[in-house]
Amino acid sequence: MNDAKITAPALLARKKSGPKIAMLTAYDATMARLLDEGGADVLLVGDSLGMVVQGLPNTLPVTLDEICYHGRAVARATRRAHVVGDMPFMSYQVSVERALESAGQMLKTGGFEAVKLEGGQALAGHVRALVSAGIPVMGHVGLLPQSVHAMGGFRVQGKAEADAGRVLADARAIADAGAYAIVLEGIPSDLGQRITESISIPTIGIGAGPACDGQVLVCYDFLGMYPSLKPKFVKHFAELGAQIVTATQSYVAEVRAGSFPSAAHSFGAQPKKDPPLETGAKPVLGPPAPGYGPASEEP
Ligand code: KIV
Repeated sequence: MNDAKITAPALLARKKSGPKIAMLTAYDATMARLLDEGGADVLLVGDSLGMVVQGLPNTLPVTLDEICYHGRAVARATRRAHVVGDMPFMSYQVSVERALESAGQMLKTGGFEAVKLEGGQALAGHVRALVSAGIPVMGHVGLLPQSVHAMGGFRVQGKAEADAGRVLADARAIADAGAYAIVLEGIPSDLGQRITESISIPTIGIGAGPACDGQVLVCYDFLGMYPSLKPKFVKHFAELGAQIVTATQSYVAEVRAGSFPSAAHSFGAQPKKDPPLETGAKPVLGPPAPGYGPASEEP
């Protein structure tokens, strides 16, 4: 695999050249490093972190500072993937100026290479202004989680022909405003195909069918770690949730039985005597122990 850094223009070019774009969400450095190593093209610090990290019922309370905090962790650990941040609810809708300030903060302090915002025709001016300021923008149309109350819940959009026309017009408006890619969420597959064939930027689907130019899933969903909600479009590529529960049960049992830690996981006893120094030899310190900080058998 070519491990050159993936950029917004490189993703835009994939509309013509392929291959399809594989995008996942990430919220911390450890997960970002693993997903990057696995070859994900794009890591999105989604405002879904409100639900899967913070345990909230929706994404609305997530703040700009929280997105930037998680962005720094993800950017630090990512070598190849393109790192995108979700603009939180009310960090851009209020005005074009507010959108510029918020997106600017995300690039300056969040480590992001692009921002994603939700909305269609009404947000085209915002997208144009951000792009003019040199900030790559990923759009997001169809089911808009930040409009959960206006939509009456997390509901599939564009089922009726008139509504499908609106979602198509939204996607066109965002593409025409200069976005380099667009997420299509929660729409029928045939509409996903129609939009993909009608616009010149890559479409990245989540519950939008197989014709899109790429796909995105929330990392905890595709790893089988978020069982409380399993929409139809989610596929578990692993069952880490069940494995974590089993591993925890084993750990609890071994701690209670006294079989963990064994000698293999314990530091040796203090040497009885220091090595002689009279030959002029200096005491030799061993290499630092692996782990998250200096660990030593020395007192
Ligand atoms: O917040 C998020 O994770 C998203 C993706 C699901 C597209 O917007």
